[in-house]
Amino acid sequence: MNSPGKRTAIAFSILLTWLCFWFSYKIFINLLDENNTVTDPDLVNITIARYSVCQSGTKYAISIHSAINNTALRQGIRETWGNSSHHGIPVVFIVGLNDNKDVHDLISLEHSTHEDLVVGDFVDTYRNLTWKHVISLKWFITYCPSVNFLFKFDDDIFVQPKKLVSYIESIENKFEKPNILCDTVLSAEARRNKKSKWYVSRKEYRRKFYPTYCNGYAIIYPQNAVNLLLRNINDTQFFWIDDVFFTGLLAAKSNIPRFTEPIFIAPSNAYNLTEINETRLNFIATETFNKRPVGPTQIPEASVLHHLWEIVNNDQM
Ligand SMILES: *[C@@H]1O[C@H](CO)[C@@H](O)[C@H](O)[C@H]1NC(C)=O
Ligand SMILES: *[C@@H]1O[C@H](CO)[C@@H](O)[C@H](O)[C@H]1NC(C)=O
Ligand SMILES: *[C@@H]1O[C@H](CO)[C@@H](O)[C@H](O)[C@H]1NC(C)=O
Ligand SMILES: *[C@@H]1O[C@H](CO)[C@@H](O)[C@H](O)[C@H]1NC(C)=O
Ligand SMILES: *[C@@H]1O[C@H](CO)[C@@H](O)[C@H](O)[C@H]1NC(C)=O
Ligand SMILES: *[C@@H]1O[C@H](CO)[C@@H](O)[C@H](O)[C@H]1NC(C)=O
Ligand SMILES: *[C@@H]1O[C@H](CO)[C@@H](O)[C@H](O)[C@H]1NC(C)=O
Ligand SMILES: *[C@@H]1O[C@H](CO)[C@@H](O)[C@H](O)[C@H]1NC(C)=O
Repeated sequence: MNSPGKRTAIAFSILLTWLCFWFSYKIFINLLDENNTVTDPDLVNITIARYSVCQSGTKYAISIHSAINNTALRQGIRETWGNSSHHGIPVVFIVGLNDNKDVHDLISLEHSTHEDLVVGDFVDTYRNLTWKHVISLKWFITYCPSVNFLFKFDDDIFVQPKKLVSYIESIENKFEKPNILCDTVLSAEARRNKKSKWYVSRKEYRRKFYPTYCNGYAIIYPQNAVNLLLRNINDTQFFWIDDVFFTGLLAAKSNIPRFTEPIFIAPSNAYNLTEINETRLNFIATETFNKRPVGPTQIPEASVLHHLWEIVNNDQM
């Protein structure tokens, strides 16, 4: 029954959730100091991406959300499409932490070599993906305040940044008002099967459907949209599926439309990269590279990046 006791309890738990979120957000804000330094009392302190990474007058920046253990994929990206000296766009990788000393040493070494990591103070797991996204957007507005666009990618995707930029320039009028460009997902249902990787309890998300959101592998955020999202973030209940949270719930609350363009749509069979061989790679290349600067996704290993990169470069000769 709707007894006053129960109502008080509900009100109390809402308040508690809110306080927790607000508190975490505060902690997170304090994580970024003038030198881009993350402090974690349990680990060695990590310095994060070069302060000056966005200071080249660039219009675009790329942040790649990467799983902490995907060292080989990150290196593959650096050596292929993510190499800034080919397109002039700054690239950073956003990772979390874990308490494994070996992993931590590897991350420190990787950072001292490349200075392109942004390390968030959260445990790097699926259920913490929203934190990765928070760090990514916060990094962007803090360190790239005069950059017009943030390209958010996952670490298992292949992109042709120069082609993407030409495309964005051809539709720039669509960004006069805050707008998010991506591969939109309409009327997706929250997964209630406990075995699903994306299982969501009714406590975490009450409604049956998610609002229109962006498939997280590639999201084009204009600066004005990022500002609006972060302005409203303390007003939106935390949800762990990051693309639903940022580009669904929070974008809806912020009245930011999400729209899609043909650059994202490829034949579905072009994106299956399991058991690939030369024939399939060439098929993927012809099906995706001509019109589509974004994809394929779900790259299983760095060698595939190199292979696709070779095809793209030979194509341009
Ligand atoms: C940032 O770095 C500068 C120069 O290395 C140093 O003087 C300053 O104390 C650092 N600030 C913080 C908060 O660590
Ligand atoms: C990390 O930085 C904090 C504050 O600057 C310092 O108190 C702490 O000792 C450092 N931890 C390590 C392991 O260096
Ligand atoms: C990453 O690797 C370390 C050590 O191999 C392991 O302890 C940790 O659970 C892994 N993390 C993830 C997210 O897979
Ligand atoms: C990026 O490209 C430049 C110029 O081609 C090259 O010198 C550099 O080694 C490349 N970086 C990586 C990580 O491959
Ligand atoms: C998310 O990160 C927080 C802060 O580091 C940690 O307390 C929590 O256990 C993490 N959640 C998961 C599911 O790893
Ligand atoms: C959210 O934070 C902004 C400042 O960043 C503040 O003006 C606003 O009042 C906060 N909203 C709530 C509901 O606390
Ligand atoms: C992808 O391809 C592999 C091998 O060609 C096949 O076994 C698998 O079912 C395919 N997966 C999907 C989702 O189509
Ligand atoms: C390459 O893969 C495709 C699809 O996965 C398969 O149909 C074809 O037989 C394979 N070719 C070779 C030479 O293995």
